[in-house]
Amino acid sequence: MSDLRPLLEDITDRIYREADWGQPAQYIRELAEVDPSQFAICVCTEDGRMISAGLAERRFSIQSVSKVFALMATLGRIGGQLWSRVGREPSGTSFDSVVLLESERGRPRNPFVNAGALVTTDALLSGREPKLALAEVLSLVRAAAEDDDIHMNAKVAKSEERTGSRNKALAHYLASFGNLINPPEMTLGTYFHQCAIEMTTSQLARAGRCLAGFEGAPSVVSTLNVRRVNALMMTCGHYDGSGDFAFQVGLPGKSGVGGGILIIAPKVASIAIWSPGLNDYGNSKAGTRAAALLSQATGWSVF
Ligand code: DON
Repeated sequence: MSDLRPLLEDITDRIYREADWGQPAQYIRELAEVDPSQFAICVCTEDGRMISAGLAERRFSIQSVSKVFALMATLGRIGGQLWSRVGREPSGTSFDSVVLLESERGRPRNPFVNAGALVTTDALLSGREPKLALAEVLSLVRAAAEDDDIHMNAKVAKSEERTGSRNKALAHYLASFGNLINPPEMTLGTYFHQCAIEMTTSQLARAGRCLAGFEGAPSVVSTLNVRRVNALMMTCGHYDGSGDFAFQVGLPGKSGVGGGILIIAPKVASIAIWSPGLNDYGNSKAGTRAAALLSQATGWSVF
């Protein structure tokens, strides 16, 4: 696509004109304080180009987008053993829901709902010190982005530790079914820190190249796991909004309550979008809109 730059600038202008931002996540203080009227988009293409528009060099909290990287690290470490503890089905429930866990005996539906991400992080710990598991996730992200200037914001992690009652409830409930190996507080602390990784929109798009099947891009997991992670992003990456995201955008995506979305157009592009205001599903409102505009204009849907 030669005219990607004007398209991204057009989309950015339109998003600012529409000014339909939604509200930033309120339950993590640092996120609640972020100005919602901000937008960035960055696209890395198969031929090595990187094109961006808006505030693509501003850092934001990647939150649940980190679940993709933690999942890749865990699959690399323990492989398919993870699936005895976590499913691969969409949940149809919100990201922090507890409802299915009782009837499904503590086996979360997928690795992207919070319960499933907690089990995934618990598996990644495998009896190690949290700082070792966190270093593993961070090095995977840095290797994928080919950029060492990516860090965790300990203040954001601590802040969520203070207010994250829902996640604490989920972790203890999982433990009651024997589906946490480590003490709940240890798994929670690791998970909160993983979610507190900060990246710019450009860095996130670059990191996503490892999932786009580009020749020459950093390879951090096997080709089989690339396919599987993309499948999970498509079916579960936006929680109970996953069907709608597939309908509007037609590409695998993973959202975070910091307003980031990582989107993969297999063999074509890795796309990152950021806008901190959220829709009713807890996914970026303007970001989802921009993803739909991009997919319509480029025809990059997988369908
Ligand atoms: O666990 C939480 O609630 C946050 N650290 C992450 C949730 C999140 O990003 C949901 N995605 N849209």
